Amino acid sequence: MSDSLSKKIKEAATYLRENGVKDPEIVIILGTGLNNYADRIKGAITIPYTDIPYFNTGKAEGHRGELIYGEHQGKKVICLAGRFHYYECNSMEKTAFPSRVMVELNVGRFIITNASGCVNMTYKAGQLMVISDHINLSGNNPLIGENLDEYGLRFPDMTYTYDRELREKLLKEAANQGIDLVEGVYTMVSGPSFETPAEIRYIRNIGGDCVGMSSVPEAIIANHAGKEIIEISFLSNMAAGVLDKPLSGAEVTEAAKGIEKDFAQIVDIAIEI
Ligand code: HPA
Repeated sequence: MSDSLSKKIKEAATYLRENGVKDPEIVIILGTGLNNYADRIKGAITIPYTDIPYFNTGKAEGHRGELIYGEHQGKKVICLAGRFHYYECNSMEKTAFPSRVMVELNVGRFIITNASGCVNMTYKAGQLMVISDHINLSGNNPLIGENLDEYGLRFPDMTYTYDRELREKLLKEAANQGIDLVEGVYTMVSGPSFETPAEIRYIRNIGGDCVGMSSVPEAIIANHAGKEIIEISFLSNMAAGVLDKPLSGAEVTEAAKGIEKDFAQIVDIAIEI
């Protein structure tokens, strides 16, 4: 089973190398409604996920389903414009597969982005948040199964998952550039149903500042392999029960349009620092 996972990872990485993806330094995983950032990459090669071995071809709302590789800010970057969610794949192995492939390609830094619901009542919808830690309420973990020793340890430490020094630099530079950036804890739930108001009160009580249906699998895989991680969340809406109105996926995608400029500036900083 794990042998075949290892083989699949290598096959996908070989395909990407053979199609021009050479020595990428940074991967940017683009969240819901945030895929347009990929258009900033110059001299880009675009590879549809449908062409990459073992990449899931399902496409969630607000995601393109393409890998874009090129140069940006003097660095060789990959944009994953479209991610696989646990709620689509029904398997952590499939959800985290692109991150496994990024590790195999020897990418040094993961910039993970997402849209999430705002749980912290001192923050508000429309803000950007740099993630300091996470709580995994998905009920699963992408490292379950035989450990792939070539990438990391069986029991990886998670204390320093989100690089503190990089986070401090990011917060400082965001302030210099006048961008509103807060800091907090991301809570992952499986979805696809949004949370109930009671679940949101529970998440607030256990220390979550925002809630979403992604990113934790990618962060665990990147941390397992000792990669630098910067994670940025767009607080697209107040979480369930905060406002007296229902939530919708369309609202999340729509809200993301308003933040594109600040989001791009923050990701640019995350590449540069
Ligand atoms: N809950 C879960 N995931 C989300 C939300 C939310 O309120 N907003 C955007 N992604």
